Amino acid sequence: MDKMRVAVFASGSGTNLQAIIDAEIQTIQIVLVFTNNPKAYAIERAKNHNIPVEVIDHKNYQTREEYEKHIIEVLDPYKLDLIVLAGFMRILSPVLVRAYKNKIVNIHPALLPSFPGINSARQALEYGVKYTGVTVHFVDEGVDTGPIILQSIVEIEDKDTEESLLRKIHKVEHRIYPKAIELISSADIEVIGRRVIKKY
Ligand code: GRF
Repeated sequence: MDKMRVAVFASGSGTNLQAIIDAEIQTIQIVLVFTNNPKAYAIERAKNHNIPVEVIDHKNYQTREEYEKHIIEVLDPYKLDLIVLAGFMRILSPVLVRAYKNKIVNIHPALLPSFPGINSARQALEYGVKYTGVTVHFVDEGVDTGPIILQSIVEIEDKDTEESLLRKIHKVEHRIYPKAIELISSADIEVIGRRVIKKY
């Protein structure tokens, strides 16, 4: 089977990008790193591994739709099978989501549907839950609402601060994002309604 052609979208440090690169997933080829942030450290990580980079700053566009129409044009020659959002700090509009229907995945630092949106670790601490975690999901037209592929739990201890909790969450992210991408790229799952089911 051909390797899945994957683009990783990142806006910041890119530790998840690094974890995906380091996992050396045999069923994918990372053909592009895309960023909206010219200063993202993810750019260096991509260059260190000879992965092509496209930088398109959203600030140069009037609307989300205009920005995404341009992204779609730029992505076209890469013939992508999958877009992996790894700390991409822009909410996608239906323009991009529809162009890549069921081909975009995201990682969220909480157990969805709890604590969607931003500052999820802080939200979990303030709520007082004893467990939070990490969710990998397909991206639909809502915010953090798409079908769930994998989840993993993280315990919140009394001594945890937002920083210590984020460290624990990141560690789990780096383990489960490559695992989820491997699942998708080996075509072992199917989406039935909201449920993502293992085929075998
Ligand atoms: C991760 O915590 C991820 O859950 C969230 O953004 C963060 C990205 O971190 N969507 P990094 O850039 O991969 O280090």
